[in-house]
Amino acid sequence: MASPLVEAEGLGRSYLQAGEAVVALSSATLRIWPGQRIALVGRSGSGKSTLLHLLAGLDEPSSGSLAWPALGSIESLLPDKIALVFQAPSLLDSLSVAENVALPLLMAGRDRDSSARVKFALNMFGLLSLADKLPQTLSGGQMQCVAMARAIVGEPKLILADEPTGQLDQVSGQALLDALFRHLEGSDCALLIATHDPVIAARMEIHWQMEHGLLSVSERFAGSV
Ligand SMILES: Nc1ncnc2c1ncn2[C@@H]1O[C@H](COP(=O)(O)OP(=O)(O)O)[C@@H](O)[C@H]1O
Ligand SMILES: [Mg+2]
Repeated sequence: MASPLVEAEGLGRSYLQAGEAVVALSSATLRIWPGQRIALVGRSGSGKSTLLHLLAGLDEPSSGSLAWPALGSIESLLPDKIALVFQAPSLLDSLSVAENVALPLLMAGRDRDSSARVKFALNMFGLLSLADKLPQTLSGGQMQCVAMARAIVGEPKLILADEPTGQLDQVSGQALLDALFRHLEGSDCALLIATHDPVIAARMEIHWQMEHGLLSVSERFAGSV
């Protein structure tokens, strides 16, 4: 039987703010399976980014357990097996758009065919004409599209996208998702998108709701555990 990509039990994360503990995530239990399309919805400050950073292995839980049974050790996750699209702008200023998109391949030592892969990823999101531009010359929405191209370039097993359409208008946001879904069609790559946008959430088969650090997973998801 296939193993889950990610498995968490009683996962919690607290932060210290002015000497007080703030519980950002409280006892989340979840699994993500290959090929799943999950929307993580919830208000600002409900803990969505905290959860995504933990699932990417970028942050350490304060409590509970977290493992990546189908992917391996935490050291091997980024950027090869899990791609994280950050909520905040994350392109490197001194590198061109194409060089930014190539980064996951370089970091994973897969630079042999990187130029063809980068072109493919840029083309997927209509970004070929921006290949040589520096990030500071782009709009916020264009930067988000480049970050998405960077996420898919290495063919990861799990894409975690944190409000990836937050800087895009409705039509451009849908176009970004259209391109992403086309790319993932038939693939076993799982996709988890944190979003405020009900139109984006409606396109995902599974909905997880986050409220004040409490995660509820849908019945459909619970049935597949
Ligand atoms: N690095 C941090 N240090 C202190 N508090 C944090 C930090 N990151 C997040 N928080 C707090 O954790 C809570 C959840 O934040 P976050 O995960 O960013 O929510 P969301 O992504 O849903 O907006 C908030 O109360 C936020 O202030
Ligand atoms: Mg957030």
